[in-house]
Amino acid sequence: MPEKPRFRTVIEPFIIKSVQPIRMTSVAEREKYLKEAHYNLFKIEAQNVLIDLLTDSGTGAMSSEQWAAIMRGDESYAGSVSYQRFEKAVKEIFGFTHVIPTHQGRAAERILFSVMCRAGDVVPNNTHFDTTRANVEFRGAQALDLVIDEGRDPASIHPFKGNMDLEKLEALIKRVGAGKIPLCMLTVTNNSGGGQPVSMANIKATRTLLNKYGVPLYFDACRFAENAYFIKLREPGYENISVREIVQEMFSFGDGCTMSAKKDGLVNIGGFLCTNEGDLARQEKDLLILTEGFPTYGGLAGRDLEAIAVGLNEVLNEDYLLYRISETKYLGEGLTNLGYPIVQPPGGHAIYIDAKALLPQIQPLQYPGQALSIELYRAGGIRTVEIGSVMFGKIDHKTGTEAPGAMELVRLALPRRTHTQSHIDYVLEVAKEVFDTRDQIPGYRITEQPPFLRHFTAKFEPVKSS
Ligand code: F0G
Repeated sequence: MPEKPRFRTVIEPFIIKSVQPIRMTSVAEREKYLKEAHYNLFKIEAQNVLIDLLTDSGTGAMSSEQWAAIMRGDESYAGSVSYQRFEKAVKEIFGFTHVIPTHQGRAAERILFSVMCRAGDVVPNNTHFDTTRANVEFRGAQALDLVIDEGRDPASIHPFKGNMDLEKLEALIKRVGAGKIPLCMLTVTNNSGGGQPVSMANIKATRTLLNKYGVPLYFDACRFAENAYFIKLREPGYENISVREIVQEMFSFGDGCTMSAKKDGLVNIGGFLCTNEGDLARQEKDLLILTEGFPTYGGLAGRDLEAIAVGLNEVLNEDYLLYRISETKYLGEGLTNLGYPIVQPPGGHAIYIDAKALLPQIQPLQYPGQALSIELYRAGGIRTVEIGSVMFGKIDHKTGTEAPGAMELVRLALPRRTHTQSHIDYVLEVAKEVFDTRDQIPGYRITEQPPFLRHFTAKFEPVKSS
């Protein structure tokens, strides 16, 4: 066991070996970029962003050990040694029998749901991430979010706000019948619900319930190490158990998982799909060959597999996890002290501002989250992402009416090992200026949008107050 820290400051447990310059821009320049991008931050060029908190996915810094491993990459088409090292790391940590590499998480999702889901099926999850939902719906199935009620209330304090609501899950199984539910998912941590963890007790209870009805349990494992660290910090009985062992126990309750290694794999690209079932693995590999590649590389280079193998082990380092969770908490507490309503308590990879509570003058269908994101960019070059009605609003194509999303959040996601504390202090100063002028922030309307995953490409314009 490491010694308990004697000093209050949690330092970045690494030194900087390579740097990438970032560029200051003026408010006038950023206003021009916003107009050119039709107020969609996905369309702003990265060189015009100062602090990019759009996502923690694929944006982290790799370690010198990972860069060294990249040189070992074996690029053989079939049976590469790099695949063996990758497979060994995944099996040791997650414990599943079959490991299928994919180029990122959504490729694993597409293959999983193509094999397991039929039209008319229902897939429950604590909260589906947007690509997970889109992949379920693309099969003609329904994606249902059954997180506990506390998980839908930004202000409520609960140590495991990502937990599955077991009563709702059982009611669903009874209502539609287990035959219509090809699998149940648990997203750890629950990204779209605020990066909140799921407890070991809830994982176990979900498994027990699903066993009763013969429904398989799959994890969306993107942020598995952060979830495990929260279990260590918050769940009685786990304080003296290593994060590695907690992870092994979590996944022992699953039948498989999808993983985007761009998060807790500490790499810039990659993912995998795991299952314990040989027959499913065979069908999944057939699909993999069709679009991703041979089963020992799955759309990745051998060097990518090497970097993942090292990253999956590095992410379990508890000095790293202490720093990671402390950085997020520092940002969350700073924003709270300024008066920002945020999803409480701070999650693992990101802070979520409750834009509905912050900007009561903007109706949900004038997108308060989008409005706040735009303002943070305009004021200080900070890029964030709306997780609200732009991302999750539902349009009824028959009537042309739109139902808002469940919450109006703005996510400030922290790339792993990328920013220092002074970057976060700067974000807080910008946030203060935006907070002080929040009454003047306008709502937005959509002028053009695609039929699905609209947040990536929709165009907006400010709604002029009359
Ligand atoms: N599941 C969760 C919970 C995610 O957060 C993501 C990606 C995916 C699946 C898909 O993985 O991007 O590798 O295909 N989340 C990123 C984000 C994009 O910004 O939260 P992917």
